[in-house]
This record gives sequence, C-alpha cells and structure tokens, in this order.
Amino acid sequence: MTILEKVNLTTGTGWGSGPCVGNTGSVPRLNIPSLCLQDGPNGIRFTDFITNFPSGLATGSTFNKHLMYTRGRAIGLEAKLKGVDILLGPTIGPIGYKAQGGRNWESFGFDPYLQGIAGACTVQGIQSQGVVAAARQFIGNEQERFRQVNEWTGGDWDRLSESINSVIKDRVMHEIYLWPWADVVHAGVGGVMCSYNRVNGTYACENSYLLNYLLKEELGFQGFVVSDWGAQHTGVDSALSGLDMTMPGEIFGDWCSGKSYWGPLLTRAVYNETIPQSRLNDMVSRILASFFSIDSKLPNSDYEEDLPNFSSWTFHTYDQEFPFQSYGPIKQTNYHVDLRDDSTEWTALEVAREAIVLLKNDGHNLPISEKDGIRRLLIAGAAAGPDSKGFNSKDQKSVGGALFQGWGSASVNAPYGITPYEAIVQKARERDMVIDFTSDQYDLDHVDDIAEYADMAVVFAVASSGEGYIEVDGNFGDRKNLSLWQNSEELIDHIASRCHKTVVVITATGPVDLEPFIDNENVVAVLLSAPLGQYFGKAIAEVLFGEVNPSGRLPFTIARKWDQYVPIIDKIPIKGKPTDDLNRLLDYRFFDENGIRPRFEFGYGLSYTKFSLSDLSIKEILPPTTDLPYPPPYLDEYVFAEEKLRDVEDALFPFKEFSPVPGFVYPYLFNEKIYSVDEYEYPEGYTEEECYQEPISGGGLGGNDALWNTLYSVHAEVTNIGDVEGAYVGELYIDYPSGYDGIKTPRQLRGFDKVHLKPGESGKLEFEILRRDISVWDTEDQSWVIIPGTYKLYVGSSSRRLELAGEVEIL
Ligand code: BGC
Repeated sequence: MTILEKVNLTTGTGWGSGPCVGNTGSVPRLNIPSLCLQDGPNGIRFTDFITNFPSGLATGSTFNKHLMYTRGRAIGLEAKLKGVDILLGPTIGPIGYKAQGGRNWESFGFDPYLQGIAGACTVQGIQSQGVVAAARQFIGNEQERFRQVNEWTGGDWDRLSESINSVIKDRVMHEIYLWPWADVVHAGVGGVMCSYNRVNGTYACENSYLLNYLLKEELGFQGFVVSDWGAQHTGVDSALSGLDMTMPGEIFGDWCSGKSYWGPLLTRAVYNETIPQSRLNDMVSRILASFFSIDSKLPNSDYEEDLPNFSSWTFHTYDQEFPFQSYGPIKQTNYHVDLRDDSTEWTALEVAREAIVLLKNDGHNLPISEKDGIRRLLIAGAAAGPDSKGFNSKDQKSVGGALFQGWGSASVNAPYGITPYEAIVQKARERDMVIDFTSDQYDLDHVDDIAEYADMAVVFAVASSGEGYIEVDGNFGDRKNLSLWQNSEELIDHIASRCHKTVVVITATGPVDLEPFIDNENVVAVLLSAPLGQYFGKAIAEVLFGEVNPSGRLPFTIARKWDQYVPIIDKIPIKGKPTDDLNRLLDYRFFDENGIRPRFEFGYGLSYTKFSLSDLSIKEILPPTTDLPYPPPYLDEYVFAEEKLRDVEDALFPFKEFSPVPGFVYPYLFNEKIYSVDEYEYPEGYTEEECYQEPISGGGLGGNDALWNTLYSVHAEVTNIGDVEGAYVGELYIDYPSGYDGIKTPRQLRGFDKVHLKPGESGKLEFEILRRDISVWDTEDQSWVIIPGTYKLYVGSSSRRLELAGEVEIL
C-alpha cells in the first residue's frame, strides 16, 4: 500500500462524511472498503428496525454470563446486517467510581471483576458475528463534566483550558481500572477507544505510557486504538504515543471543516520522516488485522452491495449522498432493513427480566395477587407511561416518562417501548382488577384522593443521566444529585400515607437515595433496575405479577448517606485545569474497609423463593507460586518493506480527477511544502529504539499467560427450598493476607454463577479461581505476585451475606 492509502485507513473522513458516526477512508485498488464505525454498546445508534437492548448496567445486574454473551451476539448480529464493521462498544469504563457519573448506565457495574467478565462475554458475542468490537472508554472517564474543552460555553466553562485530569496510582490502575481491559484483550477485542480525559497529566489518546506500554505491551493488545470523537489533541505526539485511528477525523468541535490532526498532516509527517514509516505500518496492520480476522464472513444479505444499508444523518429512503452537509446527488440512503428475529427479541426480553432487583418485600406483598384481596390497583407516576415527546427524542434526552435508556451516544431509536402502564393494565384485566392511574407528579391533592381507594399502589420513579454533550435540567451528563426526579419523593410520601400497600419501582442509571421512603412501613416493596430497553414495561409487569421471579443483583452499593459517595468535580480551578483523584477504594471496598453499613450492599437482591447453600469444596488445580514465570520470548516483529518516498507531487490532491467534498478529510497534501524533521521538537526522552525490557507481566493476550491459569476450582450446592421456581446468584469473594508492605487488599468479588432451580431442586455453583484473581500488583517489581498466607474464600448471596466460608493456605 502507498502512504496515501495507509493514511486513508487511519483517519476518519469527517463527521457526517459517510453513513456511519465514523468512517475511515477506503483503498479501492485493494477492495478495502471504507470501514463503518457505529455506536454502540446497547444496540445500533441512528438507524431503524433494530432492537433497543437493556443497558450495560442492567446486563451487569443479571450476573448471568450466558445472557451477557447472548446479548453481545444479538447486538453483533444486528450490527452485521446493517453493515457495521466496527461496533463502538462495549463500554467498560467508567468503572463506576462516582455514583453520579453520567455514563455508568452504559457499563456493567461498579466492580472490575464484574465489568471484566461482562465485557469479555460481550466482546466474544459481538465478534462471533464478524463485527469488530471497540471497547470504550480507555481510561479514567469517570465523570462527564469537563471531559472536553468547548463542549459547553458560558460561565465557568469558558475557563476550562484542558480536559479533566484523572489521577490514578499504579496499583489502583492495575487492580481496578486496567483489570477489565485485560479481560477484553484476553477475549480478543479488535479495537479500544481512548477517552477524552487526561490521565496522570497527559491526554489519554496521546499518553504513551497508557497506550504503548500498559495496553499494547503489558496487556499485549494486538488491535487498534481509536480516539473518542475529537479526543485527539496532537498529530505527531498522538501517533508516536500509540493512537492508530483518529475519529471522526476532524479536530473537536471543528466538525465539517475538513481540518484534521492527521489526514494530510499525517502524510506530511511521514514524508518528512517525523513519524517513521514503521509506525504508520503498525497502525494499518493493527486496523486491517482486526478487520480481516474478525470481519471475514459476510452474511447472506440481499443488501451486501449497499452496506452499510442505513444513514446516520437522515431517515429518508432517498436523500443526498451527504445529507449532513446537504451535498451530493440523490441516492438511496436507507434500506430500512428489519433484522430483528426471535433470538434478538428473546434476548432483549430475557435480559430485562433477569436484571430487575427486588430490594424490599416486607410481608411478601409481591407478587401482586387477587388472592390477597388486591382488586383495585393504582398505577402512579409519569414514569409509568410514555414521555409526552414519545420514545425517540434525539439521543433520548426526554426523560419525562418511562425510562428505557439513558441519553447520549449509547442510546438508540427504540422500535417501540412497552410502558409499565400498558403491560400492567393487561395483566390486571386478566385478573379482573380495576385500575386507577395518575401521571401527575405535582397535583398531590388529586393523588391523595385516588390513593385512598387503592388496595395497592405501584409508584414509578426515575433518575437518569447520560453523556456530557447533553444537558437535562442542569444535569450535564452526570446527575447533579442522587434524588429521584420530578418530585417523586413527595409523590411516594403522599401515596404511602394513604395506601398501606405501596410498591415503588425505580429505573435509574446508578445508585439513588432511598432514605426518604425505604423505612416507611407502607412502602411494602421496592424494585430497582437500570434502564431495561424496549421491554421494560413487560419485564416489570411480569415480575410484579409473579410470572417471573426477580433474580437481579445490585451492581453497586446503595448508601445511607450521599456523602459516602465520591462527588462529581464541578468547579474549575483558576488555571482552568481540573484534577480528579480516582484512588479512593471503589464502591463496596470503601464501605467494607471503613465499617460503614450501606442501605443495600453490592450484590444484594431478593427473590420470591428461598435458597439454602451447602457443601463448599475447594480443589487445587495448579500449585500456586508467588512469582510469575517469565513469559516466552516475543516472536520476531514482522518488518514491512518501507516505501521509497517518492516525489511529494505524487501525494498532492488530484484536483484534476475530482473535486473535494466540502468538509471531507482526505489523505492528500494540499501543497508541496512538507517542512523538515528538524523543525519538530520531540517529547523529551523520545527515541525510535525500544528501550525497555519485555515486562514480566506481559507476553500474552491480556498479560502473562500464567495469569489466566486456573489455580483452584470451587463448588457449592444450592437448593431452592421455597415454593416457586427461581434463579440464585452465587457470589464468591476473597479475603487476602496483608502484603509485604503491610498494605491490605480489601475483600473482593472473584466469581459469580447463576443457576435456575425449580422448587425442591438442587444445583451446583461453579467457580474458577485464576492466578490473577489471587494476585496483587507489586509496584516495586512491576509485576503480579501472590502473597503467601491464608486466603479466605466465601460464597454467598451478596458482598455481605457470605453463607459459606473456606480457606486456602499458600506458602
Ligand atoms: C462518545 C463516544 C462515541 C462517540 C461517537 C462520543 O461523544 O464519547 O463513546 O462513540 O461520541 O458517537
């Protein structure tokens, strides 16, 4: 390939310059198409006739690995049939460091182990369909505010001169933030999206230590790094620091300008030898190797010729070729291909069902039954019905009704949304119940009146959040507090003071404040879930009426006091460079280590049946050694022949052949002036030579292969001792001995398994403890080590209900 051809694959053609949210240039000579990059983690953004899957956070709440994989596969299938080459998901960062973090609903839960397993299963599912997954956002993107300069203007925002700086210490980096990335790399993820924020002072997309060392060297990542949209801040530095693809092509905010840090400037930097050709070759081989190894098989589709068969910028069947720029000839822009099938529908519904968490059920008032004298049911809350703007406001920023998804690039155009009102009415009618309904959150006199007559009231409430480019009621992506929205606390209070069987159903993008009503004895039951997608109402109604027994578990801790969570940084310092310390213990670790009693702990969730646990057994599979074995030596690097740099004229824009599309980013030079390498000031210490030893913690996909060895297998027996069928999630936690430095490793989740059991039936919970699961990061040796001592292993129903205990002694 020529330099121009290679550059063309590294640089997006520009926002709107192509059917997808990101489009690379193509190489027609070699039949390499423009690659389509499309959001996202919960389904395919900006198109029609697709499924609105339950959110990542809901998927994490299922604690069901099979469903995690199945959902990934279903999303991958739809992506494939729409012609997406690179799917921008799953989201495995944020890790959930901040309860109010806007994008927590996209990722799988506030724990690296859960996030890692769910991320890896999702990647395998997506890629099984021949679509490359690009996991996002690498790394430390824990809040939305200040993620990017110029995202907002006015007031304080004008002072923001650099994106927020996430400060992460070495051990925390390895044990918490990097952990799930090792899982997805191990699972063979093709792409990684670097984030908007800075990490330890340097922007994530030009942070050589993060990209070249931690990701590509230590974790052995073989795929490509793509920038978040406009997260690139330099041309040469980012290239040398490990960025392989820039998206959407232009500089942040300069959309449709054609101005890029790469494109022509990358061509120039290679021509003047500021960037070695070997680096460009590396970028392109990473991109193409992922593409060809994963995206090899095209499905049987009538539309193959016209893939992608949708446009992100118009819903019209025929429109201009570049609708976003109102440019180009009229052509078919959308084929409206309907690719939903039984498997995608089943997955969307099944994940929603298993994601619902029952927090309280005093007196066993749930499931709702006419046999308990429930004949008149009140459904209350705007969140029970549709938003007045309908389901599909742009990027889902209307949050006045039932909450199907959070807002931002991870939201999709739902094909429909089944509201709780609709689904409950149907079930109530089947049971000859009568229904009252109010969606008024503020006329409490009226609410008081109807609450008086209800045998039972079900109140729906929400708290939403999303991506930082959208502001809803003062919430700039992140939630400004943890309260329920739209006066819901008052609404609950009024109903519960008149109806002594009040059930509260909450949809939230993270933890919410339950204190105003959780101890109210008339609030007999509380259900909580993350956004559940199109089947929200159906799944909730099935749980309320007992057709489905709830089996979701909390993927985060619900505190009693707000100040027990890490706050959002919302002030910009004088110099305009906000800093964020991300080193406090994460979620349940903080509560456990500080002896703070949460309201509901991580991993908690009730059922309509009861389970008993017994017979914990621990079997050694491989004897543990304290130090990691050296990885085998690296294979020799494949060295591509370097192109002899030809005349600069060859790289000039071929104006005679065609005229540029406005705003399109091309690889061509616009003039012959290419400067010289002497004019570039390299970062201090930069050398083309590799100057470090291969890390002992590296050597394989996801790190040293030995890290993935199973050292112990753990089993326990679980029996359903209640009257109804149900699913049990067994959670395995480990207590570690103190480290050489005396530093304690907090108890943490290291296994989960879900079994479905009929009444009286027993099943086996199975866990595998990998070497990495009992290793800690030694900052001095820069390696994973196993500390000799006693390891306590617990299997239980939550992070605090640890019914079975055993131990292993490591010498
Ligand atoms: C988001 C990414 C997304 C991209 C393209 C950005 O604002 O942070 O996650 O993939 O937009 O839509």
